[in-house]
Amino acid sequence: MKKVSVLGMGYIGLPTACMLANRGFEVLGVDVDEEIINKLNFGKLHIEEPELERIFLKAFKNKKIKVSLELEKSDVFIITVPTPLNHQNKADLSYVINAVNKITDKIEKGNLVILESTSPPGTTRNIVGKIITDSTGLLAGKDYYLAFCPERVLPGKIIYELENNDRIVGGVDKKSAEIAKDIYKTFVKGRIFLTNLETSEFVKLAENTYRDINIAFANEISLICSDYGIDVWEVIKYANMHPRVNVLNPGPGVGGHCIAVDPWFILENTGRKDTLIEKSRNINNNMPFIISERIAKIVNEYKEPKVTILGFSYKENVGDTRGSPAIVINNELIKRGIKVSIYDPLVINTKCNLSSLEDSIDGSDLILLFSGHDVFKKIDLASVSDSMRNRNIFDTRNFFNEETVEKMGFIYYKI
Ligand SMILES: NC(=O)c1ccc[n+]([C@@H]2O[C@H](COP(=O)([O-])OP(=O)(O)OC[C@H]3O[C@@H](n4cnc5c(N)ncnc54)[C@H](O)[C@@H]3O)[C@@H](O)[C@H]2O)c1
Repeated sequence: MKKVSVLGMGYIGLPTACMLANRGFEVLGVDVDEEIINKLNFGKLHIEEPELERIFLKAFKNKKIKVSLELEKSDVFIITVPTPLNHQNKADLSYVINAVNKITDKIEKGNLVILESTSPPGTTRNIVGKIITDSTGLLAGKDYYLAFCPERVLPGKIIYELENNDRIVGGVDKKSAEIAKDIYKTFVKGRIFLTNLETSEFVKLAENTYRDINIAFANEISLICSDYGIDVWEVIKYANMHPRVNVLNPGPGVGGHCIAVDPWFILENTGRKDTLIEKSRNINNNMPFIISERIAKIVNEYKEPKVTILGFSYKENVGDTRGSPAIVINNELIKRGIKVSIYDPLVINTKCNLSSLEDSIDGSDLILLFSGHDVFKKIDLASVSDSMRNRNIFDTRNFFNEETVEKMGFIYYKI
């Protein structure tokens, strides 16, 4: 049975490693973070994701997965390390480079290397392939197999989507793509399409850029609607009754480590200026500043104002705060001398300075609904808001029913 090493035990690497381990592969999960490795070795997870604990413990108890700081010789190496943006809006490929440097010590003829980390077009060939050839003399497509296989999973549904989504596998040559497909088809029920490296890298970026541009359109029309005093939500509802129109929802900005990041990767290495892609990024990046400004205007008429942020993760029903525009709003309000208190029962990141629901609402002048978590539907607003100083709600997601909250005595604001 083949041995697979997965480098990076995060949201993508750990579920992928578990899937393969439960399909009979001997899996080694590698990470540079000692705390993560120690936790996993105790059978404990460091991330929240439905079903993940179950499939991890199954693989762990059956001794099909082991985790370590050290990489070992393997038949297959899968790289799932972060590819964040740097300050110049370019891909920080240092994690990928570090991971490949580890692989160069272990790789042998006939092995397969797969990059899954979202990357600018050309990364698999010109960074991963080049480093391996430069340090080992092995040539991709001749001595070993090289592929790129992007991830398209939705946080909160990762396990389901890993199995059920279609996959695109790009190979340095046809054989590499076919060999990589053989690995994925052990657990993927969706279709698997084969193409070249650069196309598969681009497909992933195009998908997220498409989403970003469409969100920017919704955000832009929300701003234009407010110039006219028109309710954008009503406009979108009626516009979407057209059979070929599907306007997305406006919101307080785009966060996370995919949609807000990948559009920059698509532009990298092209030198193109004045693109729709860049303009859309800027519209979305500006939204948390616009929201902060509006909130400041509302609460600054009170003495020592306090705002409660409900939901701090970048989107609904997940606990991930990476790149969350709520962070920008929090900082902008604090800069304006406004006290901010945050309640998010899904976030386990202790750096976020969270409070209980009661403490965060106590003495508050405004509730800012940031992430529309389902659990917030169960909050009895009428009674918890008794301790508020002033009853204002700013709803960035069209989450509450306007009439209902107004009956509770709230002044209701929305995008
Ligand atoms: N999370 C998602 O929903 C999602 C979806 C699609 C694509 N992606 C992409 O997948 C990649 C991984 O994302 P993630 O969310 O799993 O990141 P993550 O931060 O959750 O996990 C990455 C892990 O890699 C480890 N790491 C860093 N350098 C390493 C190295 N040299 N060797 C071994 N481990 C190393 C980190 O310690 C971390 O635990 C990124 O490129 C991301 O853009 C993520």
